Amino acid sequence: MKFKIIDKASALNGNIVIPGDKSISHRSVMLAGLSSTPVTVKNFLHADDCMSTVSCMSALGVKVEQKAADELVITGNGLFGLKEPLDILNAGNSGTTMRLLAGILGAQPFFSVMTGDQSLCTRPMGRVIKPLSQMGVSILGRGNNQYAPLAIAPANQIRGIKYTTPVASAQLKSALLLAGLFADGATVITEPHRSRDHTEKILAAFGVPISVSGTVITLEPVRELKAPESLIVPGDISSAAFWLVAASIIPDSKLILHNVGMNPTRTGVIDVLKRMGANIQVTNESFAGKEPIADIIVSSAQLNGIDIEPELIPSLVDEIPVLTVAALFAKGRTIIRGAAELRVKETDRLTAISTELTKMGAHINETHDGLIITPEGDLKFATCCSYHDHRMAMALAIAGAAAQGVEIESPDCVTISYPNFYNVLAKLSSVQS
Ligand code: S3P
Repeated sequence: MKFKIIDKASALNGNIVIPGDKSISHRSVMLAGLSSTPVTVKNFLHADDCMSTVSCMSALGVKVEQKAADELVITGNGLFGLKEPLDILNAGNSGTTMRLLAGILGAQPFFSVMTGDQSLCTRPMGRVIKPLSQMGVSILGRGNNQYAPLAIAPANQIRGIKYTTPVASAQLKSALLLAGLFADGATVITEPHRSRDHTEKILAAFGVPISVSGTVITLEPVRELKAPESLIVPGDISSAAFWLVAASIIPDSKLILHNVGMNPTRTGVIDVLKRMGANIQVTNESFAGKEPIADIIVSSAQLNGIDIEPELIPSLVDEIPVLTVAALFAKGRTIIRGAAELRVKETDRLTAISTELTKMGAHINETHDGLIITPEGDLKFATCCSYHDHRMAMALAIAGAAAQGVEIESPDCVTISYPNFYNVLAKLSSVQS
């Protein structure tokens, strides 16, 4: 589909079961694929990005059986059991697939090449190539070792290193931890701020000695993984974020979001929305494996503009496009700082969100590392582009539903992380003509 119209919604009401977490779905398939006993992955996110990981792991000799839409049984051949792929591995649009697999493939005794779509092939890979090379990985990338395609030669002995990451990136940290599984000694990583810790948690669940002290992570190599029989993937708070904002800014709304992952390294969006005055209640708190989950009740509220400080960014990095929409419906200015990482996501999300929402009449100033959002007057209907970025498309849809509607160019990219998004929105809306 080239264009999709989202109508103004007069209210959103109902229950939503939040689909599986994208980050944890990738990691579940990779870790299970390095195990020697079958692992059932429940509530797996059946979306394009995670299917890129599935297809790469399958090409590496891992058996992936789909038992239900969101349930996989994965049978690997052990930690040292991956096979040389016959063809180029394609990570599609998925940075997580490419960066995490670079860590795993870098330690294998075989040759592999990874590529991706146009967006992924222009995202920074030098940040993983450099430290992996220090670990003894033979990896080359296009553009003077900065970008995919990546070519990886058979590995000799991988070395454990001490490395301080220049950015708080879970993908970078995870690539090094996964390579570290195969190293000759400990891998110690220090981050500038804590990024999401799903890799640390899942490695611990697979019996890997890993410890975390503040922003320092230490991992010891292993000979094999101790796989659990099954894993349950919590709902993705980054998907829930669209509904948290939508219900907050569309008057007379009340939504109950079920099964939301509440890992503290991811809940920045809840903290920020609450500080803005959102009406959010967290109930039924429990655990899916080592990951905390809960149900969330959210209803409309008058939001106020706030400052979102740099240290908060890693805990809400994917939520900034939709938080920008929230800020447009608040009283007073919102300032986002320290968010330069958004410029190297699926698209430059700082430029993309300010350009597109400006077409709807928003007043947004872009700074080198953030946004200044000044709510002024009502937003109007406009045609806005997603830049083939799933979170852009969904943020624009929420802006349109809360304002006078929107026409989204290139809307289909929501299949990257939330294939059912538009259906859920249509079901919850009581549409005005
Ligand atoms: C992810 C980490 C984040 C996030 C991405 C998923 C992960 O990227 O934006 O959507 O699964 O580790 P960075 O690590 O580049 O910040």
